[in-house]
Amino acid sequence: MTDARLLVLDAGTTSTRAMLYTPDGTRMATAQRNLGQHYPRPGWVEQDPIEIWAQSLACARDMVAQAGGADRIAAIGITNQRETVIAWDKRNGRPLAPAIVWQDRRTADQCRALRDAGHEPMIQDRTGLVIDPYFSASKMRWLIDHETAVAQAGDALALGTVESWLVWNLTGGLHISDASNASRTQLLALDGANWDRDLCDLFGVPVAALPDIVDNEGDFGAASPGLLGGAIRICGLAGDQQSATIGQGCLSPGPAKATLGTGAFILAPTGTVLPRSNNRLLGTILRQQGGRRHYALEGSIFVAGSLIKWLRDELGLIRAAQETEALARSVTDNGGVSLLPALSGLGAPHWRPEARGVIAGLTQGTTRAHIVRAALESMAHQVHDLAGAFAADGAPWTNLRIDGGMSANDWIAQDLADILNLTVERPADVETTARGAAMLAAVGAGLHASLDDAAAAMPIRQCFKPRMTAPTRAARLGNWNDILRTATGGS
Ligand code: G3P
Repeated sequence: MTDARLLVLDAGTTSTRAMLYTPDGTRMATAQRNLGQHYPRPGWVEQDPIEIWAQSLACARDMVAQAGGADRIAAIGITNQRETVIAWDKRNGRPLAPAIVWQDRRTADQCRALRDAGHEPMIQDRTGLVIDPYFSASKMRWLIDHETAVAQAGDALALGTVESWLVWNLTGGLHISDASNASRTQLLALDGANWDRDLCDLFGVPVAALPDIVDNEGDFGAASPGLLGGAIRICGLAGDQQSATIGQGCLSPGPAKATLGTGAFILAPTGTVLPRSNNRLLGTILRQQGGRRHYALEGSIFVAGSLIKWLRDELGLIRAAQETEALARSVTDNGGVSLLPALSGLGAPHWRPEARGVIAGLTQGTTRAHIVRAALESMAHQVHDLAGAFAADGAPWTNLRIDGGMSANDWIAQDLADILNLTVERPADVETTARGAAMLAAVGAGLHASLDDAAAAMPIRQCFKPRMTAPTRAARLGNWNDILRTATGGS
């Protein structure tokens, strides 16, 4: 099939997309649909599992039609927002509760109790993850404790992350999760072949409800023919941040990648060496093939694009995200305003689920442009904190490859280079998350011999070199550290 296409499903936090790729990694077409987010209480974030599936399927069908039919598609690759938990009934595939989204902080008390009981060193050692509501395990436990239908499902209970949910629906009942997604549940040891019994007992999650753990590339099963017009094989699976790392060609130690999506996630591959952090970074599985794993160190920032969405939807300061670049350029500086975007607490390296956002330095002269500029600046400040943690862990970045929706903003790309004092590179097509899933599917379907082959045709990158003077950088970071101290009580 020389004109074979790869169909990628990318189920993100605020939208789901399907895309068509050629085997050399060129994106041919995209369909996108928004996903609703629900905030029933402060700190809670939920989604409708039916909507995630229905909108993903609708996008996939658009792409199959554009490709000219299912027989033109060699394989499906799936990538997804990670950690988000869905519970469903194995007998009929019906969801038993709303999905609890990765940003949700409802299990902060449960996590604090586990930390106070002294479990964090063991959990961090085994899973590479700190104890935080971010990860799936405490969310799974919460569903069992608080949702009657989940508690009563017994042997019929299925628990999974978003890729598991999509595969279940696509195949009509296959329950699998790839190693990269499974490593975000806090129930899999970095070097464990299967779910960790001790961790499942500690969190109170029944192993029987969890999916089988599989590689990131391979032949996992076929879509039910009635859904897409043919039994297209599913050959690639990966969490979106691991997928973006692969899509950026970061396959072995060297440059780091930063995806600026709803949140911002920086991953630096560590090869086959188990990642260990003394600076509150995460160790995670980057990819698995034939059971052999490659790992990465990760810094997770919870609020990036979601801050711009909040400025637009809740404050009404902008009408569209694209306005932010011109607004930031319309003022010479932030006018003394600084902004801490802790709308979902603070992630790495601070891990303060209770932290709340701050806008400081307001005067009569403050305009919306200053606030928007301060919001954009907070991106580079957060990434700068992570750069320090990676360097302290012995994994300094040689350069940073950025991608994701917000990376299209030239002002942000330059500000990152300026604050990090590092070259920042951006590929021509910033959709590297989907590109990574296409590469995995191409390898899984036998269209490429290896990911290195699939990565060979990397897109051209634009470079942003640092231009900021040292005193300006120091002043910016000084103000940032001040509001950080205010919000975290000085720690
Ligand atoms: O860990 C959460 C992450 O997978 C969400 O990604 O692209 O929705 O910000 P995104």
